[in-house]
Amino acid sequence: MVTLKELHSFSVGEGIKEDPREKKKIEKLLEKRKENFEDMKDPKKEHYDKDRLENPFDDSKVIYGEDSEVEKMAVGIDIETQDLILIDRLNEKGEDIDAAFGHHPEGRALANLHKVMGLQIDTLEQAGIPVSQAEGIVRPRADEVKKGVHASNHPRTPRTAELLDIPFMTLHTICDNHAYQFMKDHLEKEDPETLGNVVDAILKIPEYEWSLDYDMGPEIFTGDKDNRAGKIEVLGFTGGTSLKEDLIEKMVESGIDTLIVMHAPKKQIEKAKEENINIISAGHMPSDSLGINLLLDKIHEEFGVEIVELSGFKRIER
Ligand SMILES: [Fe+2]
Ligand SMILES: [Fe+2]
Repeated sequence: MVTLKELHSFSVGEGIKEDPREKKKIEKLLEKRKENFEDMKDPKKEHYDKDRLENPFDDSKVIYGEDSEVEKMAVGIDIETQDLILIDRLNEKGEDIDAAFGHHPEGRALANLHKVMGLQIDTLEQAGIPVSQAEGIVRPRADEVKKGVHASNHPRTPRTAELLDIPFMTLHTICDNHAYQFMKDHLEKEDPETLGNVVDAILKIPEYEWSLDYDMGPEIFTGDKDNRAGKIEVLGFTGGTSLKEDLIEKMVESGIDTLIVMHAPKKQIEKAKEENINIISAGHMPSDSLGINLLLDKIHEEFGVEIVELSGFKRIER
């Protein structure tokens, strides 16, 4: 039998394996946190989230009930108050769900979403954007995200889980790292010529084929389906959330033609249109489902946990 805490630390390890950063860089980050923690003063030290000393993914946390044993787990893209009530309702009907696993961060994991964004400097650098330029677009955006999430009602969902006594974790960048590496490899292998071919290549992945049932499949946001795709980069899959429109300028300067994202802000799409950069949105729910599925396959192999799918998540086993 496995506890939620064990599932979480297993997932952290798998997230590190799929991370675009070098392992040494992650170790250094954790070391620096330990040093800072030593120097910290109360009340901040007392309330510090000690999971941060072992786990580099600040948006991927056990929210409640880490010592509970898990045999059957509800998995969803967004697990919030309404979804926890649904789980409680299902348990009343005899489902016997032991825990909930959401993808989008809640509680402390959402409050610290901006802290994972630094890894986008590495994905941008690997795509050929100079590191100075990558720093220049990621840092201010992370600061904006920090201020944006600061006002949210962070205790709400954790308290619901506590009141209903449903052990709960949210794993965000850990899953997105899996989706990122998979999509990158897949498109390299498929080597599509046109934007239309990119969409067809993405549709070969079952999560995306499923997404057609809800008309939320891959879409060309800018560019024509007959356009040559040129140099394709998956830059909107992992590292917290989307970058802004200044990414488009850096793509032009660095010779990247086509951007693959899970979702794109309106201004980024407008800028891409202006600069003749192609944006293809693979689709949000299928992309998040893909990342979760790749992790769940490993969890299944290691611990054999049973899954109940809800809240936009589609389970596909590989
Ligand atoms: Fe995601
Ligand atoms: Fe997402």
